[in-house]
Amino acid sequence: MRIDILTILPELLEGPFSHSILKRAEQKGLAEIHLNNIREFSLDKHRSVDDYAYGGGAGMVMMAEPIVRCIEHLQEQRTYDEIIYMTPDGDLLNQKIANELSLRGNLMILCGHYKGIDQRIRDRWITREISIGDYVLSGGELGAAVLTDAIVRLLPGVLNDETSALSDSFQDDLLAPPVYTRPADFRGMPVPEILLSGNFARIDDWRHQQSVERTRQRRPDLLRGREKE
Ligand code: ADE
Repeated sequence: MRIDILTILPELLEGPFSHSILKRAEQKGLAEIHLNNIREFSLDKHRSVDDYAYGGGAGMVMMAEPIVRCIEHLQEQRTYDEIIYMTPDGDLLNQKIANELSLRGNLMILCGHYKGIDQRIRDRWITREISIGDYVLSGGELGAAVLTDAIVRLLPGVLNDETSALSDSFQDDLLAPPVYTRPADFRGMPVPEILLSGNFARIDDWRHQQSVERTRQRRPDLLRGREKE
C-alpha cells in the first residue's frame, strides 16, 4: 500500500513516521508513506498557499491551485483509490473505516490548515472526508498521522503476531479484555487465577466475558445492535 500525505508542514509528520510500527511497515516493504509539500506546487514567487476568504471574515483559506497541482502531479504517476481530506466536519474515524481503507492500494490524505480549503477542491477532487474526533486541531497533520497508523497496522505482516490486530478493541464492537504480565503477584495484587490455569478454552471464555462486561460498563452504545451475550 502507498499513502501520500499532502501537507504544508511535512516536518510535523517526519517524527511519527520514522518510529515503531510505521517504520517497520516501510522497512518490510509493506507500506510506503510519502510526504508531499503543497508549498512546492505554489505558482507565485512567495510560494503562497492561502488567501483571504471571499465574503470577508477572519481566517485564511487554503487556495485551490497548489493543492490541485499537487494532486494532479501524483495522479500522473499512479491511480488513487481515495483522496481523503482530514477535517472536523468529516465522518468520524472508527475501526470499520480503518479496516475498509486498509484494503485499498493507493491513498492520498490531504491536511488542511487555517479556515480550511477552498470548497471547490472538496466538491471536485476529494472522495472522502474524515475527522478524528469532535474537537478542532490546528491542522490535519495529527489526524493524518492517526489515520495512517490505524490503517497501516492492519496490513498483513505489519504486526509480529498476526492475530493481535484481530483481538484489538473495536474489532468486533467489543473493548479488549484486561491483560497482565509478570510478576503473578505485584504488591499484593494477584493476577486472576484463571490466567495461570493453562486451560486455554476457559481463558478464551473468560476474556470474552471480560470484554463484554467492560463494553457494557464503558461503551454500552457499542453493544446496541449486537445479540445479547
Ligand atoms: N483538522 C482539524 N481538526 C480535525 C479533526 N478533528 N479531525 C481531522 N482533521 C482535523
